[in-house]
Amino acid sequence: MQNNQLSLFFEKLTAFITEKSMIKLVLSNQREVTSDLRSILIHLIEIKKGNRINFVYHYKTKDLTKNFDRDEALVIIKKSLETEFFNADLFTTGETIQLTASGRGKVRITSTRPVLTPAASFSHDRVKHRVIEPGNNIYLRELGILNSGFEVRREMNDKYQQINRYIELIAPFIAELQLETPSGCGTPSGSKHEFHVADMGSGKGYLTFALYDYLTNVLGKSPAMTGVESREELVKLSNEIAGKASFDRLKFICGTISDVKLDKIDVLIALHACDTATDDAIFMGITGGASLIVCAPCCHKQVRKEFRVTNELKGVLKHGILEERQAEIITDGIRALVLEAHGYKTKVFEFISMEHTPKNVMIVGRKLPGKPAGREKIMERIRLIREMFGINQHYLEEKFTLRGSPGTLEGPGINHDET
Ligand SMILES: C[S@@+](CC[C@H](N)C(=O)[O-])C[C@H]1O[C@@H](n2cnc3c(N)ncnc32)[C@H](O)[C@@H]1O
Repeated sequence: MQNNQLSLFFEKLTAFITEKSMIKLVLSNQREVTSDLRSILIHLIEIKKGNRINFVYHYKTKDLTKNFDRDEALVIIKKSLETEFFNADLFTTGETIQLTASGRGKVRITSTRPVLTPAASFSHDRVKHRVIEPGNNIYLRELGILNSGFEVRREMNDKYQQINRYIELIAPFIAELQLETPSGCGTPSGSKHEFHVADMGSGKGYLTFALYDYLTNVLGKSPAMTGVESREELVKLSNEIAGKASFDRLKFICGTISDVKLDKIDVLIALHACDTATDDAIFMGITGGASLIVCAPCCHKQVRKEFRVTNELKGVLKHGILEERQAEIITDGIRALVLEAHGYKTKVFEFISMEHTPKNVMIVGRKLPGKPAGREKIMERIRLIREMFGINQHYLEEKFTLRGSPGTLEGPGINHDET
């Protein structure tokens, strides 16, 4: 397939890529109708290593994505037009070019005015580099954060920023862990030496997918990851998306956090799990011996309902909003103290600006080596705080009390190896 029209197309394409005015290129109309490869969507992206051309191969049952440099991309596009597709639709900021090839090798190109604007589509140039790149993410598209052209949908930009912010925040804590990967180290699948992540109350799975993507595709680890969610329809949807994204070691299970049985937990996350579900998650993390526990609490109803303030604070807490904030502080403060009592070093901080969500406090607990020290002192501190606010019990603390032996690692939800 060689003629002047084709040469002209490639001349233009090379220039558009170089000057970054290409918005997207779509190769379609299969030469072989039986071919599984339906089309290829091609974009310019900017990653840490520099500018790349992102190819999304749309197969009958799955999508695959790959990045190439400019020269590699041009060779692949040419080959694809010769062997796979009859059509190329090139959208640029200055014009729209349609290339049509015939079975006998004739090529025709037509040029019309631009139909896409960079503001609507060429998000990579405008958005600062993010850990989770839109161009590579099938799951972000399936979750509705990206449109079919793999661009961040305007109305989902906040969610996209939140996902990235969350990964950026959690990354340093992950980096401190000595996480082993099962492959290549002689550890059979399912063994206790595997590295397991649990996301409690995974919801639609936005952050579960992003963390799995980060751990596998950015860090090159191969964790086993489980999202636990009580809503069956979300579990079904998330498992379908994990399949489409070929996230083989990510699964979602339907269940309640307090009852779920997991083999092992190295990292536990619980983001905006409702009310005491956060406590159930922390309990599961502590009793499962998780090295890292990250939670962003949601509502704080349990402690607020327990407030029986009879001291000077009564004059302050008569205002509903102040009582609500105080309940948040006490609930999360005691959660952090319980973690400390069980040998975790804690950090409590704001993880996203108030304008995105008011539920923006993150509690991180990192397990320290050795036996926890000073547990009695910490428990006494918790008791005094409860007394000050007339709180009979804090749900998380109570879970350990009911269990009888606070701090041992035999939690109800963990299948311990008996050997
Ligand atoms: C506010 S959503 C947050 C979802 C997700 N973690 C995120 O941040 O995008 C809370 C989710 O936790 C689930 N959930 C609440 N309590 C739960 C429990 N005890 N066990 C399992 N799932 C729970 C809810 O069904 C809901 O989907």
